[in-house]
Amino acid sequence: MDVAIVGSGYVGLVTAVCLAHIGHSVVCCDNNEDKIKALKSGHVPIYEPGLDDLLAKYLKSGRIAFTTSIGEAAKKATVIFIAVGTPSKKNGDADLTYIENVAREIAKNMDSYKLLVEKSTVPAQTGDRIARTIRLNLPARHKQGKNVTLEFDVASNPEFLREGSAVEDFMHPDRIVIGVESKRAERLLREVYKPLKATVVVTNLATAEMIKHASNSFLATKISFINSVAQICERVGADVEKVAEGMGYDKRIGRAFLNAGIGYGGSCFPKDVDAFVCLAEKSGYDFKILKSVRDVNEHQRESFIRLIEDKLWIIKDKTIAVWGLAFKSNTDDMRSAASLTVIEALQNEGANIQAYDPQAMPNAKKMLKGVKFCHDPYAAAKGADCLLLLTEWDEFKQADMIKTRELMRQAVIFDGRNFFDAKVLGELGFEYYGIGRGGNA
Ligand code: UGA
Repeated sequence: MDVAIVGSGYVGLVTAVCLAHIGHSVVCCDNNEDKIKALKSGHVPIYEPGLDDLLAKYLKSGRIAFTTSIGEAAKKATVIFIAVGTPSKKNGDADLTYIENVAREIAKNMDSYKLLVEKSTVPAQTGDRIARTIRLNLPARHKQGKNVTLEFDVASNPEFLREGSAVEDFMHPDRIVIGVESKRAERLLREVYKPLKATVVVTNLATAEMIKHASNSFLATKISFINSVAQICERVGADVEKVAEGMGYDKRIGRAFLNAGIGYGGSCFPKDVDAFVCLAEKSGYDFKILKSVRDVNEHQRESFIRLIEDKLWIIKDKTIAVWGLAFKSNTDDMRSAASLTVIEALQNEGANIQAYDPQAMPNAKKMLKGVKFCHDPYAAAKGADCLLLLTEWDEFKQADMIKTRELMRQAVIFDGRNFFDAKVLGELGFEYYGIGRGGNA
C-alpha cells in the first residue's frame, strides 16, 4: 500500500521504516529540513537498535522516501499516519497545535479519499477535532454545477513501542489497536497490518484513544506501586527485588514493570500521566490514584538524593561519578531523565560530577552544564568519592569492579536501578546502597 507518515520523531520514523519493512511504499514527512536532509542520506538522528540498517535497505530499494511537504507526502497515499509531537502545556494538558496544523494542511491538499490515523498519543476526543478541522478546511469542489464533498475517515491507532526495542516491538506487537468509525477505515488498517499476523482489537475512536491513556498510566502505576513498596522494604529490612519476584510469578500480576528505582522518566510516562489527570479533571473526575503515581515518582528521586546526602555526609567539593544518563538503557534519549534531577541537585550543593553514558552524552551535553563527560566508565570513576548508577546499561554489568574500586577515592555505590548484585559488591569491598534493599544493603 502507499502510506504517508507525518512527523519523523521516534514514533514516526520507526513506524515509517517498519511499514516499509513489511512491504508498503512509504513517504515520511517532517518540517525540519535538516532532519529530512539527513534521513535522505541514510543518517538516523536517534539511537534506536536496528533502525539504521533497515533505513539504508529501504532507501536503496526506493520503498521509503522523505519530504518536507505534507502535500507531497499525502498525494499518493490513502492512509496517512499523524505522528507529530504533542508536548505538554504548563498545566499538564497536551498541546495539540501541531496536530491541528497537520490536519489543516492535509485537508487543503486533499483530492481523493484519505484515512487519517492518529499515531501520536493524544487526549480522548482528539479524533473528533481532527475530523472537524478537515471538514472546515476542505477545498470547495464542484462537479457539474453541484458541490461535491470529499470523503475521508479519521482513525486512532496508538503505538505501544518502547524506545530501545521499538523495531522489535513493531514487528512483534502484543496487540494492534484500531479505533475506527467506518468499515472502510477498519478494512484499510487491517490491510496495513496484515503482514504482522497480530491480534487486532477493533474499537471506536474514543475507546482506542482511551486504551493508550490507560495502558501507559497503568504501567506508570505499577512502577510507583513497587517504588512505594521499596520505601517500606528499606524500613523493615525486606528486599524489594525478592518481593517483586515473589509477586511476579502470580500470572494476574506479572513481573514486568515491577523494577524499583529512581522513578520513571522519558518522553511518554511523565507527559501521558499529566495529560490523563488533566483529561479526567476536564471531564469532572478527580483521578486521585494517578496524582499519587506522579507524587510517588517525584518523591523517589528526592529520597535518592537524600540518601546520598545522608551517606556521603558532606557533598560540597566531593567528586561524584555517574554511570548512565539516559532515561533508560538502549536509548540516547534524555527527556525527563532522572539523571537530570539528581545531578542538578548535587551540583547545587557543590559536588563535582564526572559522568559517562554509552549513547546519551551528545544529548546530555546540551542539557547539563558543568559536568565532566568522560570517555569510559573508569575515567568517570577516577578519584570519585562515590558512584551513582543511574541507567541500567549492559556495559556496566561487564565493568571490572575491582579496577573501579581501586580508581575511586571511596568505594561507595548508590545503585538507582538495583542493577548490581549487592552481595558481590559487598564482598569486593564496596559500601552498597540500592533502592528498597533493606535485607541486602
Ligand atoms: C513507554 C511504553 O512502555 C510504551 O508501550 C509506549 O509506546 C511508550 O511509552 C509511548 O507512549 O510512546 P518508553 O517510554 O520507551 O515506552 O519506556 P519504558 O520502557 O516503558 O520505560 C519508561 C520509564 O519507566 C523508564 O524511565 C524506565 O526506566 C522506567 N521503568 C520501567 C521503571 O522504573 N521500572 C520498571 O519496572 C519499568
